[in-house]
Amino acid sequence: MKIKLLSIFSLVIFNQAFAQSEKFYATTDTENAKELKAKFPNEIEIVGAAGNQSAIFLSEKAAEFLHHNVITHGPGYVYKSSKEEALSAINKVKKSNKILAFTIDQNAAVNSAIAKVSADNIKAHIQVLENYGTRHHTTAKAQTAVQDLKTKWQGLITAAGRTDVSVRVVNHVGTPMPSLVFTINGTTAPADFIIVGAHMDSITNNTANAPGADDDASGIATITEMIRILLDVNYKPAKTVEFMAFAAEEIGLVGSSEIAQNYALNGKNVVSFVQFDMTNYKGSSKDIYLTTDPYNSNDLNLFLIELMEHYNKTGTHAFTYGNTICNYGCSDHFSWADNGYDAAFPFEASFSQYNPNIHTTTDKLSNMGSSATHAAKFAKLGLEFIIETAKGSVLATSETANNNSVEIYVKDKSLNYRLAKETVESISIVDTSGKQLLESKNLLSFGKIDLNKINKGFYLAVFKTKSGKVITKKFILE
Ligand code: BES
Ligand code: ZN
Repeated sequence: MKIKLLSIFSLVIFNQAFAQSEKFYATTDTENAKELKAKFPNEIEIVGAAGNQSAIFLSEKAAEFLHHNVITHGPGYVYKSSKEEALSAINKVKKSNKILAFTIDQNAAVNSAIAKVSADNIKAHIQVLENYGTRHHTTAKAQTAVQDLKTKWQGLITAAGRTDVSVRVVNHVGTPMPSLVFTINGTTAPADFIIVGAHMDSITNNTANAPGADDDASGIATITEMIRILLDVNYKPAKTVEFMAFAAEEIGLVGSSEIAQNYALNGKNVVSFVQFDMTNYKGSSKDIYLTTDPYNSNDLNLFLIELMEHYNKTGTHAFTYGNTICNYGCSDHFSWADNGYDAAFPFEASFSQYNPNIHTTTDKLSNMGSSATHAAKFAKLGLEFIIETAKGSVLATSETANNNSVEIYVKDKSLNYRLAKETVESISIVDTSGKQLLESKNLLSFGKIDLNKINKGFYLAVFKTKSGKVITKKFILE
């Protein structure tokens, strides 16, 4: 990836070097834009802002500064060919300013589903995908790989005897390779979509040899394991659940951008989108790293944190999480965010420690320890996400009653809380990256927590009760 990224980047720089004084349009974080404007008032114009994204008109010098001052690699901005394109891009990213109405109350269904995740199934499927030799979007092998995946997914549907589940091939304008979409029709809210994605293509500098085991056979195998289990438990969601295997991600998110744009044009209500791209290389100390790029949904990231706090804190399915940042539209989730949908991208490692073999002929299962135990954690998170978000409004269970036993509201920079039946042991405040910002102990069952030292944003309050329960509540600090 470095090579290609550098080449895209140097192309921009090269073009700019030719026309020294020429400026170009781009979008970037509003914070970045303001910092640049303060440092180089003549090198950048802020032509528009929406949410935390700004449309900018900048010189090569400003671009260079941006590139060297962002946290990791990547240009730090997204190039746009015109002012209109830059403005429309920032206005499309309409970040919702409310908490998604997700709850966690499907303990029995989730626990039985995640217990079925088999790392061996995922491993075997990664090997099958690696064995094509290449899945480069222009090759015949990529076409075969998509057809074979269709057969595999269709076979699972047929074996389950389901008529409310289907697979369709989506042809594209920008690539000869098709994408695949697997749909479980929603029972009571079929117009609401919960979507999970991965990409089917691979890339290296040798079209004929691009095994792409981690990038992204791992993601395809991970979502296929979710599909297998959901059919195995005869899962019938209230909302429509879709799994997508995207074509031609590696050449610029081609498959996903055509599909996401089509969904947006048709006014489809995609409640949330989660991407699985590179799930099987354990490059860092923690397990799952939530990416916190500005186009990602803070709220959805917080919900994924809530899920992991609830289902993966202790016991057989325990794993840890951290946060990282791509700094650019690094995978298909960007296409969904770009069309105004809440999107997230849980990643295999901290960004500085991702699998060094990707985009080379050595991106193989044998270079990931020949097992898929890391990817299995992502399959669990995916199942938790789907089952908890695609449900309809459920009758109050002991869990919801439990969650309702804490009331919170934010006023004058403090968090007011009241627990109905429980005595509180500790309260901690966690940010969208999973970082614990403060913890209070020795509390009464009602009171206030001072939030003056905390910035505006989305947070999770984690209440631990004396009886050992954990109750989480999301809130926004304005
Ligand atoms: N899986 C990578 C993205 C990635 C790599 C994310 C390393 C985090 C760490 C993806 O397939 C990819 O290569 N994306 C392209 C961007 C795309 C717009 C062509 C990239 O990063 O160069
Ligand atoms: Zn990838």
